[in-house]
Amino acid sequence: MAFASLYANYYDLFYGQKDYTGEVATLEILLKRFVEGSVHSILSIGCGTLGHELLLAKHGYKIFGIDQSTEMIAMAKEKISAGNATNIQVEVADMRSFNVPGTDALGTGRFDAAIAMFNIIGYCAKNEDLVATLRCVRAALRPGGIFVFDCWFAPAIFKDPPTDRVVEFQDGQRQIVRRAKTVQLVNDDLLEIEFTVAIKEGEKVISDWSERHRVRYWMVPELTYFLEQNGLALLAAHEFGNTEAPPSPEKWNMMIVARAV
Ligand SMILES: C[S@@+](CC[C@H](N)C(=O)[O-])C[C@H]1O[C@@H](n2cnc3c(N)ncnc32)[C@H](O)[C@@H]1O
Repeated sequence: MAFASLYANYYDLFYGQKDYTGEVATLEILLKRFVEGSVHSILSIGCGTLGHELLLAKHGYKIFGIDQSTEMIAMAKEKISAGNATNIQVEVADMRSFNVPGTDALGTGRFDAAIAMFNIIGYCAKNEDLVATLRCVRAALRPGGIFVFDCWFAPAIFKDPPTDRVVEFQDGQRQIVRRAKTVQLVNDDLLEIEFTVAIKEGEKVISDWSERHRVRYWMVPELTYFLEQNGLALLAAHEFGNTEAPPSPEKWNMMIVARAV
């Protein structure tokens, strides 16, 4: 299972440089631009450790988050308690088979918006995973609500193929070494990434862990088709973080906005 054990424990350290504030600002531009009516409730798919959700909750939205990883949800719950974030609820669920009992708990009817941030949709490795996920998302949204997600843009992967990487982090006296070895499965539109995490004290490895992530990259027309087949109409495709530009082969990430019809 991805995002378990050491990978989950060190998630916030690994992604501490991610610009969650800037991404939330982009999300709010899209919510304002595309949701018909006002936005009170947001469903977050693959909410992880709540990088976006805690900020959105501070801005007054009610959040219901789901994530398949019990470790990530445990950390999310700790942050909710620590921040007394009473307008966030989370639960362990798979994006391909959830039915948002949280809709009633939030007391707001069906959701005004759904988000899946940081390449969650890429974890739909097969077509049937994406169809199942979009069906669940569509069922959770009210008509006129929107679904916003970011994912990898295939032309950029082909232009700038993945390379293996080693990144080192410091955690007090410990050194955390994360290795990522990537194989491109060209016929499946997937990158298979083997992450290895080692915790070292001095030269001694005191613990290690590895997990394999299979993440898909996408073309806009195929996403448009899958969205349409599942009650969602494509409204916009943008370069990640730039709500005025189309996806670019220079940038791996793109953002997709679709409306529940
Ligand atoms: C890269 S993390 C993003 C977490 C968070 N949204 C963020 O921006 O930091 C991907 C998350 O998707 C979750 N995920 C992957 N597959 C999933 C599935 N089938 N159902 C629910 N969550 C899933 C993982 O457990 C992980 O927490």
